[in-house]
Amino acid sequence: MKAILKTLLKAVLPHGLVALHLRRQALLVRVNEESARAQYHSARQQKIAATETCGPSDPLLNADNYEEIVGFLRDRGLPENHIREGSVPPESLEFIREHVVKQWDGTRPLRALHIGNFVGVSLASLTAALVRLHPESLMVSVDPNLPHRGIHQPQSHVLALLSASGLQSNSLVLAGYSGKKSVSNDATVFDGYDPAAEFSKETAAENVLENLARICPGTFDLVFLDGNHDAAYLLGELQTLRPLLRPGGYVVLDDVDAAWAEIRAVFERIGDLGLESVAADGRVGIARLKPLDQKPGPLLP
Ligand SMILES: C[S@@+](CC[C@H](N)C(=O)[O-])C[C@H]1O[C@@H](n2cnc3c(N)ncnc32)[C@H](O)[C@@H]1O
Repeated sequence: MKAILKTLLKAVLPHGLVALHLRRQALLVRVNEESARAQYHSARQQKIAATETCGPSDPLLNADNYEEIVGFLRDRGLPENHIREGSVPPESLEFIREHVVKQWDGTRPLRALHIGNFVGVSLASLTAALVRLHPESLMVSVDPNLPHRGIHQPQSHVLALLSASGLQSNSLVLAGYSGKKSVSNDATVFDGYDPAAEFSKETAAENVLENLARICPGTFDLVFLDGNHDAAYLLGELQTLRPLLRPGGYVVLDDVDAAWAEIRAVFERIGDLGLESVAADGRVGIARLKPLDQKPGPLLP
């Protein structure tokens, strides 16, 4: 009906009048569209501004304090026995601070690499120690974010912990395997999750160390290793990470103890990899790449 009326009007009215009417209608449509768009953007910007005023200002917890970290994770509903048993104990973190972190004077930002995050205890603790030395220190961390000790999506707890500790700007968290994809949880079943049975469904980035060596060789002052506990895998990690270390850079291995004899055996032969053994506390082992001003280490076998 409308169309017929339009055709009739076109026929009886002078052409200029019809064209004017059509132009007015098009203008009206455009004005309505622009005002709807302006309303959408203004509402959007108001929402963003509101979140800016209620964002976290001061850190909620001090990641130098082990018990505060455990308490934070426990309050998120994680079982305390898994937090404690699945993480480096406080005495060994103190040992690392004593033998590694205290060797630096804080005149430049430090760069560290952390393999094996679980729910972030050693990661937050070591990041805090480096940031206290220099506020621009950076920790790159690598973990495939697979269920570990029955805890699913462990990275969500890691990110919450780093943010609550005010360390989110000093953290680069990568969801991947240090090397090739491998069976998670060291093939141990926890809470009915069988990593070997779930292997084909598990996914994360692979060969992170090799790819980091492509983009930032000679970068890291410290590499902390607590991921896959297979000796051959660890040896592969140690060989791949060598080019990532700065001269004089430290390598720290967790579980250099009786419970993990094969990891201890790797640490006992760390000299064969061109690193010199520095100290061990019965749990963590510390080694170092020789500084440039010293004679080169033994050759690889
Ligand atoms: C013993 S937990 C780490 C505990 C943590 N270092 C702490 O003390 O708070 C081992 C972690 O390594 C991760 N992992 C296993 N294989 C890995 C790999 N190839 N690369 C990186 N992380 C790995 C596991 O998923 C698990 O989250």
